[in-house]
Amino acid sequence: MAGILEGKIALVTGGASGIGQATAVVMAREGARVAVADRAEADAAATVALINAAGGQAIAIGGDVTREADVAAMVARTVSAFGRIDCAFNNAGIAGRAVGPPGQRSHELSQAAFDTMLAVNLTGVFLCLKHEVTQMLAQGGGGAIVNTASIAGLIGLATSAHYVAAKHGVVGLTKSAAIEYAQDGIRVNCVNPGYVATPMTRETIEERGEEILAKVPMRRFGVPGEIAEAVAWMCSDKASFMTGASHVIDGGYHAA
Ligand SMILES: NC(=O)c1ccc[n+]([C@@H]2O[C@H](COP(=O)([O-])OP(=O)(O)OC[C@H]3O[C@@H](n4cnc5c(N)ncnc54)[C@H](O)[C@@H]3O)[C@@H](O)[C@H]2O)c1
Repeated sequence: MAGILEGKIALVTGGASGIGQATAVVMAREGARVAVADRAEADAAATVALINAAGGQAIAIGGDVTREADVAAMVARTVSAFGRIDCAFNNAGIAGRAVGPPGQRSHELSQAAFDTMLAVNLTGVFLCLKHEVTQMLAQGGGGAIVNTASIAGLIGLATSAHYVAAKHGVVGLTKSAAIEYAQDGIRVNCVNPGYVATPMTRETIEERGEEILAKVPMRRFGVPGEIAEAVAWMCSDKASFMTGASHVIDGGYHAA
């Protein structure tokens, strides 16, 4: 039976690890040819090896989403390998720990930490969207873009103001782009995961996993594949009337 992304070309950023890796694998299983982009190029190649071992087709691309020239090259490389881009998952991101010590309230965050967080988690998504849309408009035929936001794009979280600000920005960017390109057949949505067990959350889960689980009605962490299945569907033609949406996948955290 044909997969829901049969014949599509997909670009996944942050595809070397966690949610991005799982999504690249699921997209390939569903029939897409996948460009796996990440600043950790060797790890992106490992994702490609997983896909190829399962009979799929993928390429690895190195690059930093905060650098416009790198993002333009990611798109160009995808098009030179596969001819076009139908779906994109703008997912590369960092947690607060990557830019400073955990547990800081807003007044304790350095400007450098705040700026770096926004550069990766918001500007990086903007740059990807900009170059993907440019390609989709040029090739014609529409497309589907999913940005990774978070429940932190919808609610506040203490000691994560920079992360929360960036993710709220992703939700706003998604809504505006959805309106702008609806007439071009380009759908733009975001996925809003709750706490998912990945390398990004390993230390946080070790340090305060019990405290977090007490707030999750399902009393467990998500696994990357649970986000990946939804993103693949959102990128497929099955989601043809969905645009501008924030799709929450969080074990009930945001509802409680
Ligand atoms: N894990 C969670 O609980 C959770 C919850 C909500 C949202 N998210 C979001 O999901 C996305 C993926 O997170 P994950 O948990 O899979 O993390 P992860 O650390 O496992 O994977 C993130 C990937 O992004 C790449 N990356 C980081 N900065 C980059 C840059 N500047 N350029 C290119 N690649 C870069 C990393 O190399 C890594 O491979 C992030 O945007 C994160 O904010 C995660």
